[in-house]
Amino acid sequence: MKTIIEPFKIKAVEPIGFTTVAEREKILRLAHYNPFLIHAQDVLIDLLTDSGTSAMSAKQWAGMMEGDESYAGARSFFRFEKVVRDLTGFKHVIPVHQGRAAEKILFTLIGGRGKFVPNNTHFDTTRANVDFSGATAVDLPNALAKDPKAIADFKGNMDVQALHAFIRRVGGKDIPLCMITVTNNAGGGQPVSMQNIRETKAVLKRYGIPLFLDACRFAENAFFIKKREKGYARKSARAIAQEMFSYADGCTFSAKKDAFANIGGFLAMNDGGLAARARNILVVTEGFLTYGGLAGRDLEAVAQGLEEVLDERYLTYRIRSVEYLGEKLVAAGVPIVQPPGGHAIYLDAKRFCLHIPPAQYPGQAIVCELFRWGGIRSVEMGSVMFGKYEPKTRRLISPPLELVRLAIPRRVYTQSHIDYVVECIVEVYQRREKLRRYRITHEAPMLRHFTAHFEPV
Ligand SMILES: Cc1ncc(COP(=O)(O)O)c(C=O)c1O
Repeated sequence: MKTIIEPFKIKAVEPIGFTTVAEREKILRLAHYNPFLIHAQDVLIDLLTDSGTSAMSAKQWAGMMEGDESYAGARSFFRFEKVVRDLTGFKHVIPVHQGRAAEKILFTLIGGRGKFVPNNTHFDTTRANVDFSGATAVDLPNALAKDPKAIADFKGNMDVQALHAFIRRVGGKDIPLCMITVTNNAGGGQPVSMQNIRETKAVLKRYGIPLFLDACRFAENAFFIKKREKGYARKSARAIAQEMFSYADGCTFSAKKDAFANIGGFLAMNDGGLAARARNILVVTEGFLTYGGLAGRDLEAVAQGLEEVLDERYLTYRIRSVEYLGEKLVAAGVPIVQPPGGHAIYLDAKRFCLHIPPAQYPGQAIVCELFRWGGIRSVEMGSVMFGKYEPKTRRLISPPLELVRLAIPRRVYTQSHIDYVVECIVEVYQRREKLRRYRITHEAPMLRHFTAHFEPV
């Protein structure tokens, strides 16, 4: 059969929030035109993030009842640790409440003024944690990543030559580690090839620099490798994921993505000395060694989710359902980042809103209109999220891409929900010249997109 179906049936359902256009205009105004400030009950289809929004399986819920809530040495921790070790091969597994907690511990230890941390592209929390430590986050995406129209198999790849040149320029001793984000979320959810991970590792090895994966979407990345990279078609997604981890010295992991958990994460590594120092911070900021910032039941849900996500029927459906949304939009002429990523479709706001310059936030204009017109919540990933001010003139320095991310929660929405999303986006696109420009009226010094206030110009 050609039709790829959801490899599950639905056991529990939850109502979604129907409102009228007039009601949503008021909701938007009260939320200062920032989707993060809208109450979830007012959202019809929530594509703000794929993080922590997955539907858990019956086995995950059952695991939650099995959770051992002992303070120290809980059975649930040892199950969690075994699953993570079997998958990643890393010796030391440190549970944390979510990905950024792993980042905070890691960069507190290895960051600091005068240090540089290269990455294919830092996600916003990773960059914030590197910056917060005093170090400098350096993005080295390959050239194709900057062209939303270019269709290529592995647009998430690190620019290995640029990495090598960078190391030679600043010297290896000021680079405490290098990261690769799989898949590359900020770069359009694009995968990284095994060859690229291998080549990155080879360069780093010459300078004794450890490689860490930001592994939130390791399974989606592994499946892209299986589908697109020569020599991997017959390997299981699990074997591919294991090979990806085998080139790394450690990873940060948010279990809110590919582990289908609503909360959770870990920091894992081979270096025993670094792990001991990380555990010292863990007990101060997160919790005891065998639960980190999590309840025993969360550890169970993560362990179970890590087993389920490598089911290739699931991964086939997952990658296809995101691609389905992308194909329909492209067929209607809507500009998106090509090819579709693993967890999201990214609208190319620059081409969508030709009349709105980056300094007036074309992505925010689209985000607001998708909510106003169809009750769909999405997120801007452009000058709002990544823009910086020139220190002296306060002139906005925009990132190369102005995107709107439509992140697809795992196992949550059906094909008719996605068809509705397509219909709404196409209608907004057809009258795109009427979209309004925005300005920021209030912002926090870091991660401003979460809490900024906007108003139409
Ligand atoms: C690539 C990447 N790294 C790190 C994080 C941070 O994870 P968390 O939200 O669990 O703190 C995210 C979250 O979206 C992410 O996409």
